[in-house]
Amino acid sequence: MTNPAPINFQKGVYNHYMIKEIHEQPQTVRLELRDRLAQGVADFSDLAIDDIFTNVQKIYMVGCGTAYHAGLVGKAVIEKLVRIPVECDIASEFGYRDVPWGDKQMMIVISQSGETTDTLVALREAKANNIPILAITNVKDSTIAKEADKVIYTNAGLEISIASTKAYTSQLVVLYLLALYMARIRNSFNLEDLRTIGKELSLMGDYLEIAFEQEEKILRLAWQYQQMENAFFLGRGLDCSVAMEGALKLKETSYIHAEAYATGELKHGPIALVTEGSPVITVLTQDNIVNRSMYNIKDIQDRGGKVVAVCKANLEGHCRGVDDLILIPNTNPIVAPIVAVTPLQMFAYYMAALKGNDVDKPRNLTKSVIIE
Ligand code: G6P
Repeated sequence: MTNPAPINFQKGVYNHYMIKEIHEQPQTVRLELRDRLAQGVADFSDLAIDDIFTNVQKIYMVGCGTAYHAGLVGKAVIEKLVRIPVECDIASEFGYRDVPWGDKQMMIVISQSGETTDTLVALREAKANNIPILAITNVKDSTIAKEADKVIYTNAGLEISIASTKAYTSQLVVLYLLALYMARIRNSFNLEDLRTIGKELSLMGDYLEIAFEQEEKILRLAWQYQQMENAFFLGRGLDCSVAMEGALKLKETSYIHAEAYATGELKHGPIALVTEGSPVITVLTQDNIVNRSMYNIKDIQDRGGKVVAVCKANLEGHCRGVDDLILIPNTNPIVAPIVAVTPLQMFAYYMAALKGNDVDKPRNLTKSVIIE
């Protein structure tokens, strides 16, 4: 693994912090992996909660906005590798549930700023019910870091753009590492396969650099679609969580109405909105389900929808019929969300920049929301 360089917080050659932070991701992702992964084996023994990791039977995961989307990926990965149920909730909704608290449960709280009130309220609710809390945050000594029992600090560095990009991929990496570590100490997944996934993760910085080779194409696409007023973002499985994050980025920065849907669910209602020229952006990284998604995409095209696909290079043959293709490197499907999100971040950025929006400080938004 290349030794990552320190991060420079000036805007430098970039017009906005958002695009600068998008470009920092190969470096921040490498920083995330540096101290916690060796030869494909993840290590969190320094947290000193192996007893909890070994015995826990259910995990609650909470966050808001982008952090919640990271949690959705974390849920899927932990369930696959660790074989225990994970409930991922929007923090602001968590308090309205009558959670059946019990022994052998824990909560993972995700927050870039560590100050989001909704997330803090969910943390306190779990704490009041004697649930151990592990926080994943980017800010040292933040309120969430102080109130949690244990903290994993992400190494994304100061994130200035309100729309989160590098903090999100850092959160994803930490969640993958946690899943790999828990799976290893619980012996819940084949050890050699865990190591293969870990090694794949260690290449993530390089994969991201390859994905950035599509930047000019993404800029041209944003130019081509700049008059659009709404868009659907689609994906199945892990791709659905990535689609949700892509739609959020577009809404936050370009003020275009974007809705994310599970690909298979579109036909159960929203497809009524697809007419001639409707933009549909789809994420296709999961080898075992790509064919199923292509049936749905054909359906959308038959109704006049224009489909842009973010597609893993090895699946290019399946995606040939789409209107525009953005290829990302061929990774193991389980780690694909980290690389698949970057074209969507860039698309949102260029769309907002072309519109002349205040990209780093979108209207009505703040970096951390400290009201309920
Ligand atoms: C605000 C920001 C979002 C962010 C969310 C959660 O709504 O505008 O970009 O994802 O808060 O923030 P946190 O700091 O808790 O991750």
